[in-house]
Amino acid sequence: MSPLVILNGDLMPLFEARVPLNDRSFLFGDSLYEVVATRQGKPYFTTDHLERLRATAHGLHLPLPWDNGWFEQQIRTGIDALGAADTYVRIVVSRGSGDFNIDIDAADGQPLAAFIFKPAPVFPAAQWDTGVTLAVPETRRNSPKSLPPAFKTGNYLNNILCLYEAKQQGAEDALILDLEGHVTEATTSNFFMVRDGVLWTAPLSVGILDGITRKYFLQVAQQLNIPVQEALFTLEDVYQADEAFVSSTLKGAMPVHKVNDHVVGTGYGALTRTLNEAYWAYVDAHLDSY
Ligand SMILES: Cc1ncc(COP(=O)(O)O)c(C=O)c1O
Repeated sequence: MSPLVILNGDLMPLFEARVPLNDRSFLFGDSLYEVVATRQGKPYFTTDHLERLRATAHGLHLPLPWDNGWFEQQIRTGIDALGAADTYVRIVVSRGSGDFNIDIDAADGQPLAAFIFKPAPVFPAAQWDTGVTLAVPETRRNSPKSLPPAFKTGNYLNNILCLYEAKQQGAEDALILDLEGHVTEATTSNFFMVRDGVLWTAPLSVGILDGITRKYFLQVAQQLNIPVQEALFTLEDVYQADEAFVSSTLKGAMPVHKVNDHVVGTGYGALTRTLNEAYWAYVDAHLDSY
């Protein structure tokens, strides 16, 4: 099934779409993005994704000329046109074209929106069965005082370097520390650990993406009366964990098997499994109906 794109309102095969070479996303990574997924063919938490997209645009001083109804319409059109059982939807907004000058005022003031549609990715079975392996890279999560990790921009070079290093160490993903050595998140997912029945995840203030899956896992944990610590912790704490998992829109909770050379679990731990089931039940109860 070939991926599709809606570029500036026109639906076409992805590989026929063209963006000019003086587009600022290409020149400077001056863009932002979101990934929306479907379940039973229906997108979920679209409003959360659009809110985060708007927050990033605001942070980048990039006025968006489109309302949420327009975004939802594009998403629906592409999902229907692709006709996959479940769809990965990537929304990319670039600030537009410019004249090779980084100054925002040099942009043409015509942001470009692309919606890419392809079948939902399939992760290796071993990652669900045994868990994903993580390694801690030398490269740190960028400080919230630089380009804030809370902005979901098209500039992922920091995370790209972290993933490269983790793979060089034989792991499948990176567990990234902040400049002070606190645990932050993985390269495209948030990180949770369970210790003595308490669910831990780094606070937003450490400098992480405000993951939508993270938010709903915290909500579901509260509903299940599972104690939660949204607090700073270190790698030494992770080594003592009883369970760990990473969370993202595409994965829900994926168990973590190892962090560096320390085994922290094999497959889903009991609490992770309970949370994951409750999370997907919540998703199923909140599929978008438009
Ligand atoms: C750096 C980073 N952290 C966390 C996440 C998970 O976010 P969400 O749960 O909203 O998909 C992502 C998703 O792409 C990400 O890129």
